[in-house]
Amino acid sequence: MFFRNDALAPADSGLSPDEWWKGAVVYQIYPRSFKDSNGDGLGDLEGIRSKLDYLKGLGIDVLWLSPIYASPQADNGYDIADYYDIDPMFGTLEDFDRLLEGVHDRGMRLVMDLVVNHSSDEHPWFVESRSSRDNPKRDWYIWRDPRPGYVGGEIGAEPNNWGSFFSGSAWAWDEATGQYYLHLFHRKQPDLNWDNPQVRHAVYEMMNWWLDRGVDGFRMDVINLISKDPSLPDGIVYPGRSWGEGFPHFSEGPRLHEYLAEMRREVFEGRSATMTVGECPGVRRDNVLLFTDPARAELDMVFHFDHVDLGLESGKFHPRTLRPGELADCLSAWQEAQGEIGWNSLYLDNHDQPRAVSRFGDEAYRYESATALATALHMLRGTPYVYQGEELGMTNSVFRGIDDYRDVEALRYYREAVESGESPESVLDGLALTGRDNARTPVQWDAGPNAGFTDGTPWIGVAPNYEEINAAAQVGDPSSVYSYYRALADIRHGLPVIAAGAYERIVTPSPAVFAYRRILDEAVATVLVNLSSQPAVLGDAGRGVSGDLILANRDLPEDDRGVPEVLGRWEARVYLA
Ligand code: GLC
Repeated sequence: MFFRNDALAPADSGLSPDEWWKGAVVYQIYPRSFKDSNGDGLGDLEGIRSKLDYLKGLGIDVLWLSPIYASPQADNGYDIADYYDIDPMFGTLEDFDRLLEGVHDRGMRLVMDLVVNHSSDEHPWFVESRSSRDNPKRDWYIWRDPRPGYVGGEIGAEPNNWGSFFSGSAWAWDEATGQYYLHLFHRKQPDLNWDNPQVRHAVYEMMNWWLDRGVDGFRMDVINLISKDPSLPDGIVYPGRSWGEGFPHFSEGPRLHEYLAEMRREVFEGRSATMTVGECPGVRRDNVLLFTDPARAELDMVFHFDHVDLGLESGKFHPRTLRPGELADCLSAWQEAQGEIGWNSLYLDNHDQPRAVSRFGDEAYRYESATALATALHMLRGTPYVYQGEELGMTNSVFRGIDDYRDVEALRYYREAVESGESPESVLDGLALTGRDNARTPVQWDAGPNAGFTDGTPWIGVAPNYEEINAAAQVGDPSSVYSYYRALADIRHGLPVIAAGAYERIVTPSPAVFAYRRILDEAVATVLVNLSSQPAVLGDAGRGVSGDLILANRDLPEDDRGVPEVLGRWEARVYLA
């Protein structure tokens, strides 16, 4: 790596204190796979606390914890049975307070995952709701009679034809009360009825409780799904699918923006220094300002899915190879859509995605492609997110058979695809490429047993390359992926043009090159990245670049720091004028 950190000065970026998150780097922790402190094979809060200095050392400003609430763990905690308590597998509320204190002591902040499109079926709200048709909480969830002319429970009797994201129908039959309830995800994740004001106010009360306890904000799970078209119409059945596509009827539903604005008023108004990010699968570019235009007072930023969904036209587990430039074009189009009004979340990896270096990079050039992708992403306008292990260049894992998988999505999909005639080998090939468990293998801390994650038996296998790829080997090594991520965080903190500048794409002759400028007053930063495993011509695009090299993902002798004609495979450079 080449890095001129003397070019940075902790200057005033001009951001107002309420916009602190524009200059921040967020780190996502998937607690069950982060660090185990008590030998039960599952990560926990004490494990996280033991790594706070590591995170501070990486230049992290905000930790986002995937759900740690009490949960039967049908979907690894995205099925919450008590919003006010910590699951015993992770620790206690006292452990949480201690963790939060440790985070704040180091000048970092912590945001919780907010999972309120649905609860667990074991949440007392749902237990009451299903207890009888006239229970006062009946209407807290979405209950419907069988389709007219059908007997409940028989095939075709579901109130509509929507499929669940986790295979099968989105409706579950409740024999005791003779109705179906809606679950867009697992049947143990019944959808809450946001049209009921009592539900909304119960959620706001809970959010206020956590903020009063000291947390700094929320990442909101599938928040664009909370308002359903009340007539719940059938969806189109696409060829080869058994269920209808309900998505247009519950993504960005009729009252979504009303609810988000109400939440903002009821929870965030009058508080300072909070942060909100909405996970919004399927939200289109043209609509993004509806969520993030500050004048509308809804969310600070959203996670869109367009770039991680590239090449999945034939289904999530049948990805095609991406065309050169496809990823860059997509990221760039979102930069332009947000413009200078809205704000972006910048991510490639999370707990639902395969490892970015395996999907968008090239494992044969692991350091090069991990750092090139990171450069392309982190220098954009928006708040960058690092998912645990991404800073080490962790790769997809090697799963030998279906028994190695733990994810409910993978297990259900496997069963359904094999039953419908696909060969087990081909289903496993798809899961190996895009299955969520790739991201959920334990963080590789060192070269010792279980990669230093646990003294016990890890709940899911450790990726076999941990002896080579681990934190102990990378911290302190200036040529590591970790050190490179540290440099990217330093740049965001020390260069206002990166934190706050405008974005402008540079056209290049080779589609493999992603080139752009960031501009703030007199300052211009130019980012040149080759996102491919072949050399790529920069041509005329290089001629207009001014300034000095401040970052590159390789060592460069003094006479090679000007703008080159050709970028080597996965080469990344940042110039500053
Ligand atoms: C989100 C989460 C995912 C979960 C789903 C249902 O997409 O990121 O992990 O399975 O919502 O809560």
